[in-house]
Amino acid sequence: MHSLKDQQLVKNFSYINGSWHSSETNLAVNNPATGELVANVSNAGIAETELAIKAAKSAYKMWSGKSANERAVLMRNWFNLMMEHQDDLGKILTLEQGKPLAEAKGEIAYGAAFIEWFAEEGKRVYGDTIPAPANDKRIVVIKQPVGVVASITPWNFPNAMIARKAAAALAAGCTFVVRPATQTPLSALAMAELAERAGIPAGVFNVVVGDDARGMGKVLTEHPDVAKFTFTGSTPVGKALISQCASTVKKVSMELGGNAPFIVFADADLDAAVQGALASKYRNAGQTCVCTNRILVHQDVMEAFSEKFAQAVSTLSMGNGLHEDVNVGPMISEQAVADVQTLVDESINMGAKVILGGKIEQAGSCFYQPTILTNVTNDMPVASNEIFGPVSPLISFANEAEALALANDTEYGLAAYFYSRDIGVIWRVAEGLEFGMIGINEGIISNAAAPFGGVKQSGNGREGSKYGLDDYMEIKYLCMGGIDK
Ligand code: SIN
Repeated sequence: MHSLKDQQLVKNFSYINGSWHSSETNLAVNNPATGELVANVSNAGIAETELAIKAAKSAYKMWSGKSANERAVLMRNWFNLMMEHQDDLGKILTLEQGKPLAEAKGEIAYGAAFIEWFAEEGKRVYGDTIPAPANDKRIVVIKQPVGVVASITPWNFPNAMIARKAAAALAAGCTFVVRPATQTPLSALAMAELAERAGIPAGVFNVVVGDDARGMGKVLTEHPDVAKFTFTGSTPVGKALISQCASTVKKVSMELGGNAPFIVFADADLDAAVQGALASKYRNAGQTCVCTNRILVHQDVMEAFSEKFAQAVSTLSMGNGLHEDVNVGPMISEQAVADVQTLVDESINMGAKVILGGKIEQAGSCFYQPTILTNVTNDMPVASNEIFGPVSPLISFANEAEALALANDTEYGLAAYFYSRDIGVIWRVAEGLEFGMIGINEGIISNAAAPFGGVKQSGNGREGSKYGLDDYMEIKYLCMGGIDK
């Protein structure tokens, strides 16, 4: 593969119990920028998924029995190896996912940061003592790992979405099984190779690659030896997985779809708002759950904002993520492009106007032009659906109350953004937005120290931060009696 310094990072087999497992059939991993074959990877299924859960269960006693310090040493090795191989990991990620190389390397650092952060945070799993209602009793609370964690992760962040879950799980003392997206398994398998080199024992981190989404998903969500299930992906799939988890009453955390409003108030610093919207909207070609989905602009600054924004978007350079100076890569598939085109076309039929883009790009069948639509209303398909592509719908509002009502008029509640310099507006709007994460005069909000997660149908639980560790722990209450003789 393409000029990697360390070819051993490219693995074609599932990683179960510390060894590489081949299967009878293969699945093809293709580069979305060129359509070329990147690699064939063994296509595992139900049997391998069950084997991985068995391995995670066997390793659990050993791993949870280690001290937080011992686990942190191994996790730090893993972090160091990921950063040492950042260039190669970035190239692998760009080849299978498409995002520009600089962004892919940024994702490796972002993913690795979760491993570093949770390695340290695992040392701070404090319990509690609570004054008891009687003198002969003491109440003590301890925290313990939940057990085996199973997960399904998406193609849009092939490294970081695994790292964010696995780092918290491993730091808590849990063992881990992941089924990565079939479009992007190579990044997951490279992480497994580095976990092994870091000294993370067999069975603690397992990767099962296979295209039997239903069959493997059923095992991961219904297996009695799995204590917790975690998923990042769409809301409809998340709902189905939650209901499957009900049969064994698993602890569940879900990071699902979003429909992020980006509000530009009349007093906003428009240049800063343009840069924030650009970063938030066109990161990963618009394919993130926290991407700006609707840009709400006060009517008094709509003309000025849309001119500046169109000027900035027109400078974006689209192409193969491995080429220099490209800052918007392809979408993941031709189907994803067709879905975006449908949302745009239906919205145009309802009165939206294209001021930039609006078409499938000549560069290749997976490229969609960075697009801006004006005259959009909240009921148009491009505003009421999660676009997951490089399209910015601009919606006008007249006052703060209307902006809040429009912003909250969605079943999603993941991220929201707004730009204002007025302290009163800032507090009222931050408190009034029904979303789990709010960027205030800021378009990029994700980092390892912050609690990432949504409300409403965007999911439950938090990833990253001290709150993220709690999702992998159980609280145990110890009632000690007979003390007062
Ligand atoms: C996502 O799109 O699901 C994750 C985005 C992020 O971590 O910033």
